[in-house]
Amino acid sequence: MDIIDALQTLSEEIKNTAKQISSLKDAEEFRVRFLARKGIIAELFEAMKELDASEKPQVGKRLNELRETARKLYMEARERFEKGPAITSVPIDRTLPGRTLPVGHQHIITRTIDEITAIFISMGFSIACGPEIETDWYNFEALNFPPDHPARDMQDTFFIGNDLMLRTHTTPVQIRAMENGKPPIRIVMPGRVFRNEVISARSHIQFHQVDGLYVDEHVTFADLKGTLVAFAKRYYGTALRYRFRPSFFPFTEPSAEMDITCYLCGGKGCRVCKNTGWLEILGCGMVDPNVFRAVNYDPDRYTGYAFGIGIERTAMLRYGIDDIRILFENDLRINRQFIWP
Ligand code: DAH
Repeated sequence: MDIIDALQTLSEEIKNTAKQISSLKDAEEFRVRFLARKGIIAELFEAMKELDASEKPQVGKRLNELRETARKLYMEARERFEKGPAITSVPIDRTLPGRTLPVGHQHIITRTIDEITAIFISMGFSIACGPEIETDWYNFEALNFPPDHPARDMQDTFFIGNDLMLRTHTTPVQIRAMENGKPPIRIVMPGRVFRNEVISARSHIQFHQVDGLYVDEHVTFADLKGTLVAFAKRYYGTALRYRFRPSFFPFTEPSAEMDITCYLCGGKGCRVCKNTGWLEILGCGMVDPNVFRAVNYDPDRYTGYAFGIGIERTAMLRYGIDDIRILFENDLRINRQFIWP
């Protein structure tokens, strides 16, 4: 066999053997076989001395090339097995904690409505809803607002034409529910309401309320107090202190407002409670006989209590939010702080 052909065969053998190297030990065997002082390549250099002077340069050049190739393959293999498998992409730190994906959650207002209505549902109430655009009858007239009552004033109400308006409270749903059903009626009515006010930290043109209504024979003010105290203890905690204060609403008589001790100062008086030590949490009262007359209920047979809770106010008290506008801006830096369990 021609010597050049033999070198070609050797070249293939070197490459194939290199491919099969799968450990440092294999690499060492490769070195001993081809590159060591007594290895194949060294032997061939030795044998070259016997060749004709005319063949020597060509064979010498080829042998040098083979030795270089073999060395390179050997060095590569060593590096591979000394360092472990090659890392081609960005290094991964497997000890880092996993990245959590953003998960959707309820808005503060939705959450507050759900928590409040859930407490009343557990006490036997069901949910009723009504339209956000109301007529004068439902929003005012049937609720015993006198024709010149200030709540009908342009400053408070967004009118839509003559008789229509954006409802200023959820109380009109009481009228719709009584018109559509008969006692006993025991409902809570969550929803959005609107008032034509200057937007500030304390007031907004839109907010939410939950109204409540219980109508039956023999419903008393004691029922009202019992239910609302039970609600407040469930929502604000059993350590709660409370008081009922006389108040006025056209659709209830007598009317009251319920206060709880200020969460911030515990009753001593501070900025949040305007130094009174108390925070108002809802309005309430016994359904006015005129309201029963408006829905053709006999006021001598039926009595009832009603209440209204401001949602934004409740959420602001509970979570220490001092600007109502925050609740409508949907700034995720705020909303992400309220991820419920
Ligand atoms: N509608 C009243 C308001 O917007 C809140 C209210 C007070 C509702 C007493 C009631 C109630 O049902 O009995 O300020």
